[in-house]
Amino acid sequence: MSGEEGARAASMEKIVALCKRRGYIFPGSEIYGGLANTWDFGPLGVELKNNVKQLWWKTFVHRRRDIVGLDAGILMHPRVWEASGHVVNFNDPLVDCKTCKSRFRADHLIEDKLGMQASGKTPDEMSAILREANMACPHCGNRTLTDARQFNMMFSTTIGPVSETGTKVFLRPETAQAMFVDYKSVVATSRVKLPFGIAQIGKAFRNEITPGNFIFRDIEFDQMEIEYFVKPDDGPRAFDEWLAAMKSWVKMIGLSEKYVRIREHEESELSHYSSRTLDFEYFFPGTLGWKELYGLASRTDFDLRQHQEFSGEDLRYFDQESGERFLPHVIEPTFGVERTILTVLIDAYDEEQTVDVNGKPDTRVLLRLSPKLAPYKAAILPLMKKPELTGPAWDLFNQIQDETGYQVDYDETANIGKRYRRQDEVGTPYCITIDPTTLEDGAVTIRDRDTTEQVRIPLGDVVPWLREHIG
Ligand code: GAP
Repeated sequence: MSGEEGARAASMEKIVALCKRRGYIFPGSEIYGGLANTWDFGPLGVELKNNVKQLWWKTFVHRRRDIVGLDAGILMHPRVWEASGHVVNFNDPLVDCKTCKSRFRADHLIEDKLGMQASGKTPDEMSAILREANMACPHCGNRTLTDARQFNMMFSTTIGPVSETGTKVFLRPETAQAMFVDYKSVVATSRVKLPFGIAQIGKAFRNEITPGNFIFRDIEFDQMEIEYFVKPDDGPRAFDEWLAAMKSWVKMIGLSEKYVRIREHEESELSHYSSRTLDFEYFFPGTLGWKELYGLASRTDFDLRQHQEFSGEDLRYFDQESGERFLPHVIEPTFGVERTILTVLIDAYDEEQTVDVNGKPDTRVLLRLSPKLAPYKAAILPLMKKPELTGPAWDLFNQIQDETGYQVDYDETANIGKRYRRQDEVGTPYCITIDPTTLEDGAVTIRDRDTTEQVRIPLGDVVPWLREHIG
């Protein structure tokens, strides 16, 4: 790790602690001892999550003429997953410890413990590497690991009154398949013409064995995906355009360029459906390091061809200009919501060394969140809990909500210094203070989270000022 990377304020432990302390993210089912790899988004977490999804939808669906939306079911016909290749190919290579019965991903052991690249290797090749290294169980230390075997990552459940006679179905492991399965209906009803995309935001489920680094690897998570359909020859051009669009998104959510890189998949690591894949990788703190944030894949006509064959439906597109029928090719930009949130929080986390009111060294913790994503755009803080101040404070609170739709916080508890710190820590970009002078000059003080600088402006200018600074 370079000095610069080492100096980064955020560690995974600090982010986890802040998220729990301030109501961003809690461990799932905590009062029952928790359920591994599940997380609940608290009052602030749900606002951040909604802001991420809304910004993505606005950017890629509402602001574009060539993309339409979809909200499909999590449960799909079981044949979907046979056609897509997930029943056969969606596997993780796992090893078990014969002594303590712990289970690990073979590729992660090779990458994390031996520092070797494991992607693209078969289970036999991974077993040979682990045997050669005489790998000990990371949990109990005994050298009693089994060979690697494939384990399907899809969760299954049963539709029907009793599990013995019911139909076995899967919880979708990616949102993408609905865009292929509903492709024909979208073409028939939406007047779309190639090139066009279908976008969806929704839950995906994967039976991930490796305990996740906080919300990095979950068993239940949200994906934001686009399947972009093009004429077969237009694939490479569309791929480049989507690469540029994804880079703009990364910039829009405020991630530092130095922590994001793009890595091309080697042929051996390509998914069964892909002819080319780029990963947007992010440099996570701690042991994670560079890991996948988003993906961009060329899925060719693999999925439509498979669904055409398995369903018996003609999924060819009729091109009115040329009079030809063909299966379009597909470019897929895919974005994980939880990984977006994690990277945004890590990037935003900062600590400043200051002194408190008694002159003692103090640390100011703040989240430098982009105002677009911050759960609260502003906080209204009457200096004292007196009706002559709280009255106008509530009036301003209501006015901002009504006129801008911005989510705003109101806080009249504790001293003003503590209230500023609380808002800094949750990432509120602006604190607006109503003080006794406001009653005389009709002006308020606005404090900037990042610089702590303050400006005084007339009450009537607050809404336009916020609009100008938040957008
Ligand atoms: N439709 C293609 C697809 O699902 P993927 O690379 O397996 O590709 C897409 O997943 C994105 O979903 C990833 O780039 C990542 O952001 C997110 N993702 C995948 N597995 C995840 C998990 N277990 N927990 C949280 N996010 C995950």
